[in-house]
Amino acid sequence: MLGYPINLKPPPAGFERWRRRLRRYGIGVIAYNNGGDPYAPAPVPHHTHPFERRVIERCGRWYGFPADDLWGIVSHGGTDSNLHGLRLGQVWLRHVHGGEPVCYFTAEAHYSIPHLADLLGLATAAVATDAEGAMDPEDLSRQLARHRGRPALVVATVGTTFKGAVDPLPAIAAALADVPHFLHVDAAAFGGYLPHTAHAPLLHQEAVGFDALAVSCHKFFGFPAPAGLFLIRRSRFEAYLAAVGRRHRADYLGHFPGTLSCSRDAVKPAEFLYYTSPAMQARLAADARRILADTAWLQAHLEARFPALAPRRAHPASNVVWFRRPADAVVRRYHLACQDGHAHVVVMPHAGRELLGRFLDDLGGG
Ligand SMILES: Cc1ncc(COP(=O)(O)O)c(C=O)c1O
Repeated sequence: MLGYPINLKPPPAGFERWRRRLRRYGIGVIAYNNGGDPYAPAPVPHHTHPFERRVIERCGRWYGFPADDLWGIVSHGGTDSNLHGLRLGQVWLRHVHGGEPVCYFTAEAHYSIPHLADLLGLATAAVATDAEGAMDPEDLSRQLARHRGRPALVVATVGTTFKGAVDPLPAIAAALADVPHFLHVDAAAFGGYLPHTAHAPLLHQEAVGFDALAVSCHKFFGFPAPAGLFLIRRSRFEAYLAAVGRRHRADYLGHFPGTLSCSRDAVKPAEFLYYTSPAMQARLAADARRILADTAWLQAHLEARFPALAPRRAHPASNVVWFRRPADAVVRRYHLACQDGHAHVVVMPHAGRELLGRFLDDLGGG
């Protein structure tokens, strides 16, 4: 499988041992529930909020969040994290800047973004992209000018789903400097591996100044069930909570949590904690470096052997190569995702050079 950003490499034996330990405490056996704000007193005794907080604190360090300005949850997945980013941003902008925001994103953003914007009743503005599919900050400035006077809820993508483009966060932040804004970064696809590479500064919260971040856990990490990380500046979360807490109550929980679902999975945060351990970190770092080297290798071989496919890699931090759609048999055999007459390969840790080499041979009909 080369067409989707799902890491099929099995977790190490240590993960199964960790799972067995959790099960001895009933986690994954009886109805543990992480309902509520993981940083507030829990309404039920059977929860894993301390594990969830530790995951968020460790991941916050990967993404350069200051320890005293961080809040987050382990979510149901990248889409759920994006939903939290859009909703919290919408309410925060209304509350702090007193206006109905306009949501800005490009046509290369994940399909969940326009869908969620629709769900939230957000006005939207399409921002143009450059030739590689990354947001054009000059066009963002033009769109902002068209909606002058309204706060901006900007969704930037670090690793667009099909082309693997990286929206230029520093230039986007610069375009937003004089506009009341909330910048949500959808790094569902690249957020897992970037912190372990030389490209880590692309996703450094304090350096770039974004407000919230979405990452999928089942993509690069290969966590064996859908899950996500949602991280946000604590100052933003607290202002959001103050605003929604004035209109909504959840007295029976003891606090209004601000999360968008009441009950939340308690097993995944406890299990995902293993992925933030030093042992797992070393393996993830090696995988991260290897997938980028293998992506460069694939791109070079595609260019040399199949120039007619016009292969493209949008950014040196990308693990995606896209090209003209090959024969149906190759598309089916490698489960290639296709769009507008093109297909792409997403180089995940299970896709080493042997599999990529076989794919190249099959492309040539060999
Ligand atoms: C950029 C981007 N955002 C969001 C998502 C959705 O993430 P999830 O499948 O974890 O809901 C994807 C999935 O491919 C993605 O590529």
